[in-house]
Order: sequence, then C-alpha cells, then structure tokens
Amino acid sequence: MIPPGKVLCTAGIIVGLLAFFWRDTFNPDSISGARVLLTGASAGIGEQMAYHYSRFGAEIVLTARRETLLQKVTEKCLQLGAKKVFYIQADMSSPQAPEKVVQFALQKLGGLDHLVLNHIGGTPFQMWDGDVEHTRWLMQVNFLSYVALASAALPILAESKGSLIVVSSLTGKISTPFTISYSATKFALDGFFSSLRHELAMQKQDVCITLCILGLIDTEMALEKTRGKVYMSAYPAAEAALTIIKGGATRAREVFYPWWLELLCHLRDWFPNQRDVVIQSFYNYTSA
Ligand SMILES: *[C@@H]1O[C@H](CO)[C@@H](O)[C@H](O)[C@H]1NC(C)=O
Repeated sequence: MIPPGKVLCTAGIIVGLLAFFWRDTFNPDSISGARVLLTGASAGIGEQMAYHYSRFGAEIVLTARRETLLQKVTEKCLQLGAKKVFYIQADMSSPQAPEKVVQFALQKLGGLDHLVLNHIGGTPFQMWDGDVEHTRWLMQVNFLSYVALASAALPILAESKGSLIVVSSLTGKISTPFTISYSATKFALDGFFSSLRHELAMQKQDVCITLCILGLIDTEMALEKTRGKVYMSAYPAAEAALTIIKGGATRAREVFYPWWLELLCHLRDWFPNQRDVVIQSFYNYTSA
C-alpha cells in the first residue's frame, strides 16, 4: 500500500509540471506593430484573426478573393485599432497570385513579421466521386500556393526572425471520411512545412514554423457543409483564431484547437482498427 501522502505529492508535482508547460506565455505587446500578411481574410477564421491582430495593434495586409468582403473587414480592423490595414484581391488558384501578394505586402509594410497562411478552396463534403481535376485544383489552392507564398516570403521573414503560421486541420493528421481531397492537401502541408522546419534549423535560420491543427470550427462554410452529416459539435472561430495567433507569437511548433486534439494525435497509431471504427461512427453514412 502506497501512503496517500506520497500519491498526493506525486499528483501535485505532475499537475504543477503540466501547468508549467501549458502556461500562457503570450505577450500581446509582441504583436503591437507587427507586420502581418494574412490570407483567407474575408471570412471565417481568417476574418477573426484579422480582428484579433487589429486589437493587438498590428499592421496588416489582408488578402482573399472577395473584394467587397475584404473592404468590410478592412474597415472594421481600422475601428478595432489596427495601426495600418491594406488589402489586395487575389485568387490563390492562380499560380501568379502568391508572388504578387507578397510583393504588395512588402511594398506596403516594408517587411514582414508574421505570414499567416489560412485560405482554403471550396470542396464538397461527400464520398470520393473520382473527380481528379477537383483534387488537382484544390492542391493548387490549399497546398502549392502555400509553398509559393512561403518561398517568396522566407527571405523577408529571415530578416525579421519572423513567424510562418500554417493553418491545417485534424484531417491533416488523422484521415477521416468525406474530405478526401481536403485531407490530402492538409497532409501535404505537414510534410512540406515540417520538413522545411528541419532545414531552417539546420541552416540556423531563426524563422519559426507553427502548424495549426484545428477541429470542426463554427464558420458558416463548415457548418453548412457538415449539417446532418457529422455528429460533432463545432468550436468558436474567434477562439480558434486567437489560439493560432498566440501560437505564432510564442513560436510554438504546433498548435491544437480544441486542446484535446493533441491527445488524439498522440494516440493516433495505437489501435488503428478500433480508431477507424470510432472515427466512422461520427459520420452519417446515409447523407453522402
Ligand atoms: C443522416 O442523413 C440523412 C440523409 O441526408 C438524414 O435524413 C438524417 O436526418 C441524418 N441523420 C442525422 C442524425 O442527422
């Protein structure tokens, strides 16, 4: 029999260590005046990130496809306290867009501290229907444009010892049904940016790469697509946005929102058959 005192003491030490490693080290001042380029900024999580960055007093370049929405977000950012806000309309399915957008940001802000890659192309939430052309297009939008944006911005981020923040998804760590092409683009991001992180470290380049693993978030697009098709609750976009920004500012290598996705990712390969049965039980087979 172990004395209860020892058990309590050990539990206390474990709780203390967890609290230490998970403590919030975020300092809002570190973002005041930061020069930020944010993609996918017209709606959803990107829009919420634009507002948080504005409250922290950042200088921001926003980009997205829909110009009228960008104008509205820009106005609200100025009201919320952004030091500077510019926007540039761009469609990331065009191979020329990434270079154009990074040059615009450089010209307007004179440098870059945070590059936040967040945009995604629309994709059906349904079973694989063999549409290879759609996958090719989605790879361009969700993956290749990220590679091009990061490549164009890396020399600028190296100068400022900046942060490269890549928004991904649980479906980029654990495969799930109904999002085949999307999941493939997100796994590709992990492969590219986690490898790039190695090379930057080997070259002693002080650019941090923060990969963000998000669950189901209550954006209009996600809710509309998943309605009646999944048995999961969605988490608030504003909180997801803040978690991403904090991760980038504290130079975390990976960020999980909600937090328990980190546990799922650690457990991913322990019982793969049982895992897949559990995953499938969260989806409405008859709806797709
Ligand atoms: C599953 O999908 C079917 C077909 O779309 C729908 O009728 C049903 O209500 C859905 N089930 C749940 C629990 O949402």
